[in-house]
Amino acid sequence: MTFLKTSKTLKAGSKTLPRNYYTQPDILRQEFINIFQNNWICIGRNSDLTDKGQYITVQLGDESAIVLKDKKDEIKAFFNVCRHRGTRICNNQEGKFSNTIQCPYHGWTYDLNGKLVGSPHMEKINDFKKIDYPLFPIQIKEWEGFIFLNLSDNPISFNQAFKPIERRFQSWDLQDLSVIDKKTYQVNCNWKLIIQNYCECYHCPMIHPQLAEIHNYLGGRNDFFKGPFLGGYMDFNLDKESITSSGKYCCPPLKNIKGNDLRRVYYYSLFPNMLLSLHPEYVMYHTVWPNGPDKCIVNCSWLFLKESAISNKDSIYEAIDFWDKTNQQDWQICEYSQLGINSTKYSPAPYSGQESLLAAYDNYYISQME
Ligand code: FES
Ligand SMILES: [Fe+2]
Repeated sequence: MTFLKTSKTLKAGSKTLPRNYYTQPDILRQEFINIFQNNWICIGRNSDLTDKGQYITVQLGDESAIVLKDKKDEIKAFFNVCRHRGTRICNNQEGKFSNTIQCPYHGWTYDLNGKLVGSPHMEKINDFKKIDYPLFPIQIKEWEGFIFLNLSDNPISFNQAFKPIERRFQSWDLQDLSVIDKKTYQVNCNWKLIIQNYCECYHCPMIHPQLAEIHNYLGGRNDFFKGPFLGGYMDFNLDKESITSSGKYCCPPLKNIKGNDLRRVYYYSLFPNMLLSLHPEYVMYHTVWPNGPDKCIVNCSWLFLKESAISNKDSIYEAIDFWDKTNQQDWQICEYSQLGINSTKYSPAPYSGQESLLAAYDNYYISQME
């Protein structure tokens, strides 16, 4: 939802992506291979898994991951593929394992560390050793209360990949915040249109008249304008304190937010599919999941300090409802955008100076697709 200033990275005349990037199944397949299976992908908050044995499954193209909390309260992830004949083991989006994970086909059974512990009628098979057939592990990283996973066999280290923003959000004490509400939206557009739409506020006066009263679409600066992390801040108008229906704080500002940060919202996109919006008193994040070339699923969560949310249980909805409505305004225009792009008459056109982050996103995206 940003910003001002033509960045150094926006070459004069940078254009929107060609039509096939928004419509073609082959491109989507390539995105899963090159991008979603090679980057650190945020799949939720560590507070989503509270109990031992609790799990969620995550679908990324043809790959599926089981993410669970083990007996030692550690979060682990495995490919959702049985080592016998490959069956997808777990077919629910969430649930709880007792002590083991059992394949529904022939009953091979794994412990919560992925070790094969049961394989009926295999004892007499020559050279068969259970130890050789664990579930394939997936690398996991917890950062600021978020869970990230990387499906690659040889991933870049998370710390190296996230170095530019490692401590950027420290003042919000993100690890202490809880998900107080979340919503899932099914949107009929290519997933990148959601990200690109988020990266500019050129549309704010037309699409979000209420948001435009809180911050001026020209009132921002980017501090990350190249590479995988993009974004910056927007100043609130003089009589506004935050993004809520009243324009006032919906609960007290977070304790380490000081100075100018009390009068700003920060918007960042974290490549490929995470959007992080930091307000003085709360944080919102989105993750965007391709579901076909012209469909996606958007998950949006609102994070607050739990005690603050409890003592302000009504007013926090001034923020949540405001953004729910703003989200829906965005999704609708993204769907209209997709419909126009589907036409043979769509062709790439120059980005404006307000859309420098889109050009930067596209540049980074293209570099990963090559
Ligand atoms: S495929 Fe899983 S037990 Fe046979
Ligand atoms: Fe918007």
